[in-house]
Amino acid sequence: MRTLILSDLHSNLEATQSCLEAARELGYDRVAILGDLVGYGGSPDEVVKVVQALDPAVIIRGNHDRVVAGIEQGEDFNLLALQAALVNRRLLSAESRDYLANLPPGPRPLGESCLVAHGTPLDEDEYLVDPDAAALLFRGLDFFLCFFGHTHLPCVFRKTRETVSGLLPVPGGTRIPLRDGERYLINPGSVGQPRDEDPRAAFLILDETQRQVVFHRVSYPVPKAQLRILEAGLPPLLAQRLQRGI
Ligand SMILES: [Fe+2]
Repeated sequence: MRTLILSDLHSNLEATQSCLEAARELGYDRVAILGDLVGYGGSPDEVVKVVQALDPAVIIRGNHDRVVAGIEQGEDFNLLALQAALVNRRLLSAESRDYLANLPPGPRPLGESCLVAHGTPLDEDEYLVDPDAAALLFRGLDFFLCFFGHTHLPCVFRKTRETVSGLLPVPGGTRIPLRDGERYLINPGSVGQPRDEDPRAAFLILDETQRQVVFHRVSYPVPKAQLRILEAGLPPLLAQRLQRGI
């Protein structure tokens, strides 16, 4: 069984399509989506429709999905994120808004011993970036493998019998073997707004037969995504950052 894991698509249709094309060539059986389908980018309605058509085996909401859907008003958002969320809300069809509004919160199970979460399995809005915080999650919860998003940084926190270590950011092409006796918190990175100074779209494939995950990066037509952002009337900074992956 091969699972395509996508997170933080952020209304970037070109990045989403390029990931799906690359993943189709690699081959996968099912899809898991870790939230933040929308926000920041210029194609929220298109991205929601692409995701719906994928019929994900598991999908959860992200913080931007809540605000764009109108469940929350984004009081805790910075100005850039809030402006983008309000423009995204306007660009959505009623059907797509309903789909977003009904996405469940994480964590959700993916198979028997695997979870998916947006921030962490305990808090959908927490940014998980250091091994100490990961260690608390390993201690407090029972899972072998948990995929999470939200930080837009591809990373692995690995618990062995002795220690918890972090690998971040993880370069594209990295293969992580999944070993018995160890446990993992893994972030695939962001499809639509990478922040590790690699502008290529990020995705990951979990291969349960081979007992491994492989991180992938794929180039996509950034100028096209930038044009959609500018044409939608979104802040130009959101277009500029895509070029540098920040
Ligand atoms: Fe995000």
